[in-house]
Amino acid sequence: MIPRRLTAPDPGWTIDTDIIVIGSGVAGLVTALRARTAGRVLLVTKALLDDGSTRWAQGGIAAALHPDDSPEEHLRDTLTAGVGLCDDEAVRVLVTEGPDAVRELIELGAEFDRGEDGRVALTREGGHLKRRIAHAGGDATGAEVSRALLAKIKDSGIEVIEHALVLDLLMEQGRAAGVTLHVMGEGRRDGVGAARARAVILATGGLGQVFQATTNPEVSTGDGVALALRAGAAVTDLEFVQFHPTVMWLGPDAKGRQPLISEAVRGEGAYLIDERGDRFMAGRHPLADLAPRDVVAKAIMAMMRETGAPCAYLDGRNLGPRTWANRFPTILAACEEHGIDPVHEPIPVIPAAHYASGGVRTDLWGRTSVPGLYACGEVACTGVHGANRLASNSLLEGLVFGRRIAEALPADLAADAPAGTASGGAVAGPALLDPSVHADVQQVMTSCAGVLRNGPGLERAARDLAALADRTTGEPCTEAWEATNLHTVASLIVAAARRREETRGSHWREDFPDADENWLGHLVSTLADDGTITTDYEPRELS
Ligand code: SIN
Repeated sequence: MIPRRLTAPDPGWTIDTDIIVIGSGVAGLVTALRARTAGRVLLVTKALLDDGSTRWAQGGIAAALHPDDSPEEHLRDTLTAGVGLCDDEAVRVLVTEGPDAVRELIELGAEFDRGEDGRVALTREGGHLKRRIAHAGGDATGAEVSRALLAKIKDSGIEVIEHALVLDLLMEQGRAAGVTLHVMGEGRRDGVGAARARAVILATGGLGQVFQATTNPEVSTGDGVALALRAGAAVTDLEFVQFHPTVMWLGPDAKGRQPLISEAVRGEGAYLIDERGDRFMAGRHPLADLAPRDVVAKAIMAMMRETGAPCAYLDGRNLGPRTWANRFPTILAACEEHGIDPVHEPIPVIPAAHYASGGVRTDLWGRTSVPGLYACGEVACTGVHGANRLASNSLLEGLVFGRRIAEALPADLAADAPAGTASGGAVAGPALLDPSVHADVQQVMTSCAGVLRNGPGLERAARDLAALADRTTGEPCTEAWEATNLHTVASLIVAAARRREETRGSHWREDFPDADENWLGHLVSTLADDGTITTDYEPRELS
């Protein structure tokens, strides 16, 4: 059973504002900066301002910035990567507004790497037929974007609360009216409080911590998806958890955040080999090592199964010491930290959980199915990723749809009509899970619902998760709230993964190894009053 709200003490303090932005990655920061035209903005973030996933983004931001490229070509590559499940209109928004959004980022102070001609330097990554990935600091794009936006936030007068875990939505007459939150602060804003507002924007990032090994930081526990579900919002495409193909292999028992080896390394000429040194991507896909991410991850897993190898290897010796030092300083340092010299030896790599292509369902303006609640960035499902996100479309999505929410807000708030009353009926009571559930959820998801899935494994996962729901605690604390959120998100993933009896994009069913036309639609989940997840199939509307 999934709780309809988290157990928490009554709020001990209250703040009044107009717009609450939750999360301080690229999506949250851009939305907060732009939303000021619609009213007072409060930015709350779970840890420190730059503790989210954005800071770790390496490869860059995809946008048709070169005169030889076009939004139309970017659209085509995005649709191909999404394997039939992208929303064409959302992708068109992404690729046509993308170049302007990147130019605005540059105006805001983000310094992208430039070529000798002074233009923004562009690289390639998997699934892109053109060089269209803008990068910064070589392989530290997210850190630079974060730096530039945070500098603006600091000058903006926007109120910021750090170490604030948002618990639940406050509802009034059927619409979002603020949030309850727990702040590890001091003085008047310590403990559980309430922030009242007319609009709430979720920009809480991803859910990679559902698995034992992930590229995501510790804060990525799916809080936004869980909160939205509890508030009555629809979530969709959750079965499509993208596994990045080249994450440094640190041994079979590796846990927590793993070092990412950007696809841009392959974009600059590195390639995958097996233990014998053979290039196994050749002949598997016309783009070989630069095939879309799901194709490469599957090829690595297939090679490992065929040969019994524990990992694949990324051979970047042909890049030479200068390219490693100048283009990939972050990755070089991570390799060195783990005793690997990528200039002279291949890097052991394995696929690991990286990105949720699904999330809280939104329209083209970031509006969720709950009036007054918006979502952007990884927590959202705008429809641009379909079954498999194209490389470096994630920062872009945060930028483009964050801007769109800010654009929609003034009119939405002016209309501000109560949308009816909150749903009544018997509502499952709160149940908070014991903090120890966190590790057990990760174990279940890693062994039964990871990169390779099958019916019996997913059934076992569903059973194990149902059993974990009984491990409750009466003591609210951050670890218990996070464990409950992780369990909710894991249950959503498993419910959708069990239903989808086909292999498509990043959802790989060993027992249904092919894509099936009958599954060319979305799985949409909501939470029933009795605490059960309902997952309905919705055929895709073809435009
Ligand atoms: C990478 O640099 O390979 C990751 C970029 C992304 O997730 O799009």
